[in-house]
Amino acid sequence: MPARLFLSSGDLVADRRFEFARDLQLKGDLAAAADLLVQATDLAPGFASAWFTLGEIRQQLGEHAAAVAAFRKARDADPDDRHGAGLWLMRMDAEQVSAMPPAYVRTLFDQYAPKFEAALVDDLGYRGPSLLFKAVLAARHAVRKPAFFKRAIDLGCGTGLAATAFAREVDHFTGIDLSPRMIEKARATGLYAELEVADMLEGLRSKPDAGADLILAADAMVYVADLAPMLKEVRRVLTAGGLLAFTVETHGADDVILGEGLRYAHGETYVRASLQSAGLALSQLERQSARNEDNTPVPGLVVVAAKS
Ligand SMILES: C[S@@+](CC[C@H](N)C(=O)[O-])C[C@H]1O[C@@H](n2cnc3c(N)ncnc32)[C@H](O)[C@@H]1O
Repeated sequence: MPARLFLSSGDLVADRRFEFARDLQLKGDLAAAADLLVQATDLAPGFASAWFTLGEIRQQLGEHAAAVAAFRKARDADPDDRHGAGLWLMRMDAEQVSAMPPAYVRTLFDQYAPKFEAALVDDLGYRGPSLLFKAVLAARHAVRKPAFFKRAIDLGCGTGLAATAFAREVDHFTGIDLSPRMIEKARATGLYAELEVADMLEGLRSKPDAGADLILAADAMVYVADLAPMLKEVRRVLTAGGLLAFTVETHGADDVILGEGLRYAHGETYVRASLQSAGLALSQLERQSARNEDNTPVPGLVVVAAKS
């Protein structure tokens, strides 16, 4: 996991109380840790890291209302919400499922970038790019077209694992990612003709109509709650016959939830309906898991859709 985010309060004493509280938290003395964090926030009321940690501890202690209040304070103290307090508010049903704060995603993956591939591929058995590759080959085979693409866009490209899987099938790869550090890693692969640090929806919006014949999103839509705006742009940017291939995590019901791992899980019915509303024709939808959590495959879908 990436290092824990710490935003100094600017008050040395409050920062020290926070450090002691973290020690106590890690030793399992949650009540004492909470007391120290209350002291830290008394000294520095705008101390986002202390409020966020207090929210976590109160949640662990089963103090729901107090945890919600602390997470709200964390977000008030850092309106960009780099800790992702809003995600905990969604998980605790204190707020409706909504978009992920971009600053949270950027901070998370900037911290993650140096260890990302080892953590994901070695520890979590990540296989999203190879699943997408097989699904795209099958979709092309079914319509008797070669799996060769002139221009591909890799949404949430990360360090470039999807471009690595598709390198021989694509002439010109554009990668888009919110995290500058992930983009640096992607640049080092030498596989991308263009790389953009941007939100993937904004990045797509800047692309011309019919400018790509393949759009990939490997383990990236798990950070997007509402697929509709993305799919609408995908349809505009794809050439006729062009493909969208993506993975999502899924769950037993029809809707979109924020799962335990703070990643969205999209119901299969929701995915099918969203593609249909966007005017994309489903070519493949396989129930396959792109990665493990606690050595157990996380339920997922591998989806390929075409612009007709
Ligand atoms: C789990 S990683 C997957 C990276 C890569 N696609 C792969 O298969 O290894 C998710 C990536 O999506 C990026 N991401 C998440 N939400 C994003 C958004 N709204 N716009 C752009 N990138 C986003 C993250 O920064 C991160 O690099």
